[in-house]
Amino acid sequence: MGHDKLRKFAENETFSCLLQPDASLILDKSGGPSAGLCLNDHPVKGHWNGTMFSKDQPIVLELGCGKGEYTIDLSRRVPDRNYIGVDIKGARLWKGAKTATEEKLSNVAFLRTRIEFIEAFFGLGEVSEIWLTFSDPQLKSENSRLTSPLFLERYRKFLKPGGIIHLKTDSRFLHEYTMAVAAENGLTILASTTDLYGAARQAVSPRSTSASQTPPPTSSAVPPLTWPRVATVAEGTLPDGATLDFIGTNEALFEVQTFYERMFLSQGYKITYMAFTIDHEGPYRHPESFDSDYWRSIEGPRRFSHSPEATQR
Ligand SMILES: C[S@@+](CC[C@H](N)C(=O)[O-])C[C@H]1O[C@@H](n2cnc3c(N)ncnc32)[C@H](O)[C@@H]1O
Repeated sequence: MGHDKLRKFAENETFSCLLQPDASLILDKSGGPSAGLCLNDHPVKGHWNGTMFSKDQPIVLELGCGKGEYTIDLSRRVPDRNYIGVDIKGARLWKGAKTATEEKLSNVAFLRTRIEFIEAFFGLGEVSEIWLTFSDPQLKSENSRLTSPLFLERYRKFLKPGGIIHLKTDSRFLHEYTMAVAAENGLTILASTTDLYGAARQAVSPRSTSASQTPPPTSSAVPPLTWPRVATVAEGTLPDGATLDFIGTNEALFEVQTFYERMFLSQGYKITYMAFTIDHEGPYRHPESFDSDYWRSIEGPRRFSHSPEATQR
């Protein structure tokens, strides 16, 4: 392991905002290898407010947060919410935890764990909102996708009714897959665009868009950003039927660019966004009509910063 990683891992031990539980405490092996994923509850479950946070405020998660750009930025913009960035990579979490520590941000925490274990850490209704930022689209493994029925089932165990999931991605495949999951299960889509910085950017100027504004024409077969709702977001009031507000979100959508977002933008990829709720009776169904072969075929090659080669994900 490189010297720099070792230094970050050592410093991670000193950050009070960073929780790094031992996976062996969470994984319950008593059920035997054929019993699937059995998890023990972590002591923090149901008690984030009061243990990790001094102020009892709504909790927002960023799953797969990497360096935690959204977690940090939203926490500065919206001090009356508590933000938790979750990732498995300690060297990336170091960046967010270091910033939170240096700036004494009391409404930020980070959790190092696999997202597959997430329900061991949060109690019923403990979380108000979830951000998924540039999640790996997992082209070959549906059950590894963070918006698959399997993951929605996990989130339902702790996301408040009406709680919003934000998906910001460079992957048209993941965007369309998630739209199909939402359609299949009758989930409410609050906002959706396949080109956040294109038509959406011009039409949604923060705090100036009115709900009566007419949507611009679009050539896309996919519905454009749902303008009245986004306008509502800009004004800091509630979308129809939603129990939460989006204060701070609208500007952040355009102004916060994560490490991966900047990388994919520089390669010419469009950024997509959708916000949806997961309220649903019964098990979530797989989107049978989703044409995974087609959407996979249009997913272009990416260059990752550590490799000069283009890679098909
Ligand atoms: C493509 S990166 C995006 C990071 C960051 N959100 C950004 O936009 O720069 C995906 C991140 O998700 C994390 N990740 C992927 N699968 C995960 C899992 N199952 N559990 C925890 N973290 C995971 C990776 O470690 C990585 O930091």
